[in-house]
Amino acid sequence: MKFCFRALAATGALVALGLPAAAQTEVKIGYALAPDSHYGVAAQKFEEVVTAETGDQFTFTHFPSSGLGGERDVIEGLQLGTIEATIVSSGTLANFVSETGVFDVPFLFRDLAHARAVLDGPIGQDILAKFDDVGLVGLAWGEQGFRHITNNRNPIKTPADVAGLKIRTMENPVHLAAFNAMGAAPTPMAWPEVISSLQQGVIDGQENPLSVIVSAKLNEVQKYLTLSGHVYSPAMLLVSKPFWEGLDDTQKAAFEKAATEAATAMRGYVDNVEASGVETLKERGMEVNALSPEEKAEFQASIQSAYDGYYKTYGEDFVNSIVNFK
Ligand code: PAF
Repeated sequence: MKFCFRALAATGALVALGLPAAAQTEVKIGYALAPDSHYGVAAQKFEEVVTAETGDQFTFTHFPSSGLGGERDVIEGLQLGTIEATIVSSGTLANFVSETGVFDVPFLFRDLAHARAVLDGPIGQDILAKFDDVGLVGLAWGEQGFRHITNNRNPIKTPADVAGLKIRTMENPVHLAAFNAMGAAPTPMAWPEVISSLQQGVIDGQENPLSVIVSAKLNEVQKYLTLSGHVYSPAMLLVSKPFWEGLDDTQKAAFEKAATEAATAMRGYVDNVEASGVETLKERGMEVNALSPEEKAEFQASIQSAYDGYYKTYGEDFVNSIVNFK
């Protein structure tokens, strides 16, 4: 609304001066989470910087909370040129650029600093550039943090505790293979269906980072939180290639700068929620346990058969080059 008023005011001033109003280009930006989530904060920063750099040539319309559909639908909208921008997880990105899936391999990264260094380094930047071949422009890697398991059945300490657990995964074959190998009963599902499926008991649990568990208030539908950190969850700021091709070089530079600042804002949000999120969720009534390094090692060992598949798909040397990246 704020932006519509600003656009109207600017147009009105030009008309009053007898000058033709310059056309503003609309940027529809869709994302799965609320305006006060890490995605909302990043989308807001993206808009702010584009506006500061281009002087109101663009007007942004935000569609938070999956207002334009699931992440896959939104990415397809970008390819068609009906949606201009999005911030998405790696949930469905591998369906568009298969190499992206390597970042979803469980227990790949030691910590956030390791993941950020890989995404910002040559490996991450090469993969980002590949989106250009599929009607998309990958502007920057953001992130959600490390994913943890929530559920309503029981606390989780060993792989035996997830046996038969109906757990929602993203529509991502790498995650699916891991939960199958663990002995769970994974159900891939688009995010907009998750909360109602948890409420109705169609699934027992799900997995997401603290950024999502806190901002989507999953404590309202989940009892147990296990800090498993089983996989890092990158996010990406993408724009539509048809839209991008209509921009001049100065505008492209503004969007690139804005995406970098948006990604920094997203990482800042994640740093904060990683520090405070567990306390927040305990205060909201969740029962929380953290896996010890030994317990984590047991989970990693339980998915060895999935690793055989990952090595086949991405190459063992490539996976290890990420593991050993300094
Ligand atoms: O679990 C997912 O699908 C994603 O992490 C989410 C919540 C849509 C954020 O991108």
